[in-house]
Amino acid sequence: MHRGAWFVATVAAGCALAVAGCGDDDSGGSSGGGGGGGGEKAGKVAVLLPDSKSSVRWETVDRPLLQKALEDGGVEATITNAEGDKSTQQQQAEQAITNGAKVILLVNLDSGSGAAIAANAKSQGVKVIDYDRLTLDTDANDYYVSFDNTEVGRLQGEGLVKCVGDKPDAQIAVLNGSPTDNNATLFKNGYDSVINKKFDSGDWTEVDDQSVPDWDNQKALTIFEQILQKADNKVDGVLAANDGLGNAAISALKQRKLPQIPVTGQDATLEGIQNIVNGDQCMTVYKAIEKEAQAAADLAIALAKGDAVEADTVPIDNGTHKVPSILEKPVPVTKDNIAEYFGNPDYPTKEDICAGKVAANCDKLGL
Ligand code: BGC
Repeated sequence: MHRGAWFVATVAAGCALAVAGCGDDDSGGSSGGGGGGGGEKAGKVAVLLPDSKSSVRWETVDRPLLQKALEDGGVEATITNAEGDKSTQQQQAEQAITNGAKVILLVNLDSGSGAAIAANAKSQGVKVIDYDRLTLDTDANDYYVSFDNTEVGRLQGEGLVKCVGDKPDAQIAVLNGSPTDNNATLFKNGYDSVINKKFDSGDWTEVDDQSVPDWDNQKALTIFEQILQKADNKVDGVLAANDGLGNAAISALKQRKLPQIPVTGQDATLEGIQNIVNGDQCMTVYKAIEKEAQAAADLAIALAKGDAVEADTVPIDNGTHKVPSILEKPVPVTKDNIAEYFGNPDYPTKEDICAGKVAANCDKLGL
């Protein structure tokens, strides 16, 4: 009797949490993964990616890893990409909810549009996980999964300091990410905490500090060309907020046949690592996206199934409330430790890096 009553109560509580899809014969729920029945008990999960141009990571790394992690967890996932268009992302969110999504994993295009998506989701009982980018000034985001992004910036600043070394009166240019991305603000807080000391002490001179709208690599190229023009080509180092912006600076330097100078980056993209191997870039920041994707998927799966969330979270203030968050740890990559992460599913392979013309420089580095 007692055991029976306890069992019923547990199942009922599970159903209350599950919002929808309850009432089926629940035979334990937690295991059973795919469940064979096409995910009828678990709600669907929708992933909303931002674009495919500001960084290759979204389509080449995040998409396949999220797809796999969600499917392995037995939930049906749909992944769409807004290609930089805020109204497209809004429509994708609405469509996903119409199609039965109970959880949205959102990479916002800015906080305003992200907050609108989250508010609409919340009003329909759909949970929202901010993936990689925090949505500010809303109470409708339930979780945030990302990296310690201030630390990302700090690593970039420290990397540039090491690469520039003791060059006297180094002329430094700064290419920030999109002003609409909260991460860009955090990256900047991180690297400014390091490089502003160099500017203040007079060791370095800041030739320019510009934000790149939407992280657009093409705009970054134009911006950096103008920086070179204005500075009479006298730039000795570039704090670039990701590999795409770094590559834009490198392209502009090459077009003018200028010598290699230290350039930073982020994302450990194939192009970024190849630029390091070739000596065009001094460092990148590797973020183990597999861990980020898995942590976000685990949350989404629990929410979609109505299970208790077991993750350890830290509270992060988004201006409106403290969002329970999971932050993974970034690490720097230079020519000296490229090989350390070979074999990770979110890191370029040695074969891809050392293909074609890069092979000779790989040999020189012993790769
Ligand atoms: C991400 C970076 C990415 C950038 C551009 C940021 O929010 O954290 O990894 O390079 O957006 O897409």
